[in-house]
Amino acid sequence: MTDAPVPSTPVLGIDIGGSGIKGAPVDLQIGELAGKRLRIETPKKSTPENVAKVVRQIVEHFGETIGTDSPIGITIPAVVTHGKTRSAANIDKSWIDCEAEKVFEAELGRDIVLVNDADAAGVAEVHYGAAKDHPGLVVLTTLGTGIGTAILNRGILIPNSELGHLEIDGHDAESRAASSVKDKEGLSYSEWAKRLQRYYEVLEALLWPDLIVIGGGVSKDSDKFLDKLKLKTPVVPAKLLNTAGIVGAAWLAVDRRVHPDPFLS
Ligand code: BGC
Repeated sequence: MTDAPVPSTPVLGIDIGGSGIKGAPVDLQIGELAGKRLRIETPKKSTPENVAKVVRQIVEHFGETIGTDSPIGITIPAVVTHGKTRSAANIDKSWIDCEAEKVFEAELGRDIVLVNDADAAGVAEVHYGAAKDHPGLVVLTTLGTGIGTAILNRGILIPNSELGHLEIDGHDAESRAASSVKDKEGLSYSEWAKRLQRYYEVLEALLWPDLIVIGGGVSKDSDKFLDKLKLKTPVVPAKLLNTAGIVGAAWLAVDRRVHPDPFLS
C-alpha cells in the first residue's frame, strides 16, 4: 500500500462534472467531508477559463477552512497527464491538450493537482471505501454520463485507464452501458444488466482483477442490478457514493507533495 497522506487540516477537493462543479473540504484522517458541499452549475460553455472562474468561487468560499498553503485536488472527466488534459468526454473540446493545471494555478494563485474523475474515485474507495486496504488488483468503474475506470494494484493507481471506451461488439462500451444510456433508452434494470454483463465479462477477461467496484450515482441502487451480474470476479458497490471524487482528489493533491511528478518542473 502507498503511505496515505494524513494532514490534520482539511484539504479541498473539487469535482468537475458535465452539469455541476462540487467542492468540499475533506478530513483525510477519515476520508469524509469536513463541511457542507458547495455545488455550482457548470458554465454552459465549459472552457478551462470559465470553469476555473467557478472553481475560484468554491475556493474562496472555503478559504478559511483550508488555509493558504494546502494544495487543492480537482477532478475532471478527461485524461490528465502531467497537468495537461488530453481528452474531453462531456466537457468543452477546448480542454484537449490544454495545460489545465497552469490555467487553474494562474486563476487561483495556489498549487492544484488535476486528476481524472474515475481515478480519484478509485483512490478514495481503496483508501476509505469498498476496497479499503485491498491487497490485490482492484478495478473501479463509475457508471454515469459515461463509464470511467480506475485500476489500482496493491493500492497503487495506474492512472488514466479509459476502459469505458473499449470497443465491444462494434460499439464504444459507454455508449451502450453507461447509466445515462439506461435512462435515455428507458431500459429496465434487467435489460441494462445484460449490457453490463457483456461489458464486465470483457473487462475481466482482459484484466483479471481480484475485485470490481461499481461506482457512480447509480451505485446507490446496486441492489437492483448487482445480483443479475454473473462474473468470475467479486463485484461490490462503491461506498463513498457522491463524495468519492472530492475525497480522492484531496488525497491525490497531498500525495503529489509527497511524491512529486518527475515530469513536471
Ligand atoms: C471519459 C473518462 C471519464 C469518464 C467518466 C469518459 O467518457 O473518457 O475520462 O473518466 O467518462 O466521467
